[in-house]
Amino acid sequence: MALSQSEQKILVANTAIDTLIEKGLIFSGMKIGLGTGSTAMPAVKRLAEHIKDGTLKDIKAVVTSFQTQNACQDYGIPVYSMNDRAIGGKLDLAIDGADEVDPECSCIKGGGAAHVREKIVEYNAKVFVVIADSSKSVKTIGTKFPVPVEVIAEARIPVENALNELGAVCVLREGVRKCGPVITDNGNQILDCTWKTPINVAEMETKIDEICGVVEVGLFSKNKPIVFISKEDGSVEIRNLK
Ligand code: A5P
Repeated sequence: MALSQSEQKILVANTAIDTLIEKGLIFSGMKIGLGTGSTAMPAVKRLAEHIKDGTLKDIKAVVTSFQTQNACQDYGIPVYSMNDRAIGGKLDLAIDGADEVDPECSCIKGGGAAHVREKIVEYNAKVFVVIADSSKSVKTIGTKFPVPVEVIAEARIPVENALNELGAVCVLREGVRKCGPVITDNGNQILDCTWKTPINVAEMETKIDEICGVVEVGLFSKNKPIVFISKEDGSVEIRNLK
């Protein structure tokens, strides 16, 4: 029987954590970045199981959202800031989900509005790992799943004008069970952008980040990840793992 999407998320999270331990990329004493979302959460759980059974010791985690912070607190995983001396702004590995992954392993992230802290963590990790179910694997980026841009509230309209110049149609992300816009963990707002035709991800990431008032865009093209993708048939495809 075909696996459901939530079964695929658990499969890919468990496979990635176990494979990375086997390969020595997750190890005792390491500094690890932990992502946000419904695929990252089972990975945090699997990591916690390996800490509990003694396979992993002295793990220092840096989280990407309040969601991940709460999960680490529930599981008893010690949480640090990127700025703590024990971390020194650098991580051994970061693991996270994605909204879309293209054949070059460029991604859209931020469907859960956490892409600013995700990028800080994942661009400062020696190894970046993306875990995703098969629905996230796409040929091109930009026309289907919206690319989130976190903006300073006061700059919303000038940023929207600049994004329109880059061909984007923008929608302010609205809260659910909260009136008005989504307010991110950093106190900002999100413009969700789509284009009529596929975009050059690396070029667009650079151009959007240059707009005054943009905090960060959810395009990830500059630290190429190892990618694990689970399939309905229970297999897991691995890209970029040596
Ligand atoms: C959070 O803002 C995101 O970047 C998530 O990593 C991404 O949206 C994937 O989430 P799911 O694993 O819940 O699909």
